[in-house]
Amino acid sequence: MIQPSMTLRGIDIFQELLDAQAQAALVDDLREVICAAPFFAPVTARGKAMSVRMTSAGRLGWVSDRAGYRYQERHPDGIAWPAIPAAVLGLWGKLVSETRGPDCCLINFYGEGARMGLHQDRDEVDFSWPVLSLSLGDEGLFRVGGVEKGGSTSSVWLKSGDVLRMGGDARLAYHGVDRIRFGSSRLLPRGGRINLTLRVVG
Ligand code: SIN
Ligand code: MN
Repeated sequence: MIQPSMTLRGIDIFQELLDAQAQAALVDDLREVICAAPFFAPVTARGKAMSVRMTSAGRLGWVSDRAGYRYQERHPDGIAWPAIPAAVLGLWGKLVSETRGPDCCLINFYGEGARMGLHQDRDEVDFSWPVLSLSLGDEGLFRVGGVEKGGSTSSVWLKSGDVLRMGGDARLAYHGVDRIRFGSSRLLPRGGRINLTLRVVG
């Protein structure tokens, strides 16, 4: 088993687990996924635009619109979600399970000024599996708190190639991304940050 390079409030962080070559190969894989299932601009149930753009790969995709947050079997345009790239599944196999794969790989794109408010990942049926999260491109300031709303939080800058594992007591921890350092990485030619979140939905 690979040991995390640090643990923050119960979240295992594997810093720069993917080297530059693996990151570039993954971006190529993601280009194909995005070609098949283009990024869309989600809104909250109250109709507020989220600042990230998103799409998914896998059996299920996570969507948010006026009808609320949910998993569904198709992209909002009606397309079936593409398969999760093999390299991403390999990472899950190494860090989570070789027998149970993830149901969903959510792909979030953070352009300049994009952020993600503090939230829990709790639209799944089964919380017993960890959530695995991979950062690519520009650095992002990740904030994590406890399982209750409010209270103190801790932050860490996530770099391209870093992987987080949120399991056990940290599975339902509040977390979010306060800001990105736009242009801090050269991985994506036009800048920005990509986050992949892998989850068992159950
Ligand atoms: C999320 O929790 O949905 C995204 C986290 C991240 O972008 O690192
Ligand atoms: Mn989340």
